[in-house]
Amino acid sequence: MGTPAKTGAPVTLTVDGFAVTVPEGTSVMRAAAEAGLQIPKLCATDSVEAFGSCRLCVVEIEGRRGTPASCTTPVAEGMVVRTQSDRLMKLRKGVMELYISDHPLDCLTCAANGDCELQDMAGAVGLRDVRYEAGDNHFETRQGGHENPLYIAEDDSNPYFTYDPAKCIVCSRCVRACEEVQGTFALTIEGRGFDSRVSAGMAGDDFMSSDCVSCGACVQACPTATLQEKSVIELGTPTRSVITTCAYCGVGCSFKAE
Ligand code: FES
Repeated sequence: MGTPAKTGAPVTLTVDGFAVTVPEGTSVMRAAAEAGLQIPKLCATDSVEAFGSCRLCVVEIEGRRGTPASCTTPVAEGMVVRTQSDRLMKLRKGVMELYISDHPLDCLTCAANGDCELQDMAGAVGLRDVRYEAGDNHFETRQGGHENPLYIAEDDSNPYFTYDPAKCIVCSRCVRACEEVQGTFALTIEGRGFDSRVSAGMAGDDFMSSDCVSCGACVQACPTATLQEKSVIELGTPTRSVITTCAYCGVGCSFKAE
């Protein structure tokens, strides 16, 4: 979580008053998880290197200025970490407000309803209202259709999944999964600010004409319904899944059946 598990020398720190000992190089986020404390997060997962882009996982560390991202901050001996305070709650709410102001509010009809990390995190930080009006954002690109210069069409080219840029929070989990899990480098982030988007291959490529091998690592990594399995859209979210590890060679590839 935040960074893959480490194996260095033991380091003891305190998180919200709980002493926890973890290997050197472990992230503060993972150390907090070891102590049973879940820090809100969007861009960090267990399967890819931490990136530190969403700023939802900020914490306070005694003796340090500012509020560092816990997913990219390594533990240190004697470190005293606070994951909850009025200041942190306010910062996290502010971050979530910005994300939600740039996101369609169609949860009730969205295929990811009930299985969406953006939805979960909005609840986790206690977000009730959003002060910002939707502007030239991903949501508006859909509303404005082709008249809007920022319009990006939904990519339906892959037989197994769809890519809906209107729902993308640009956390880059899909890009990192493509690189680190699959080693394919088919995805990248293009543009800046509201123009930024996940792109497959060269400008103008869709998923099918890019280097994408349809492994699904990006779909698994996506925290929203931006990358969504077509079967989920058609049949709804599965109620259970079974993970099988292939015994053919020593690599240990896992397959998820739903
Ligand atoms: Fe740490 Fe996103 S989870 S910055």
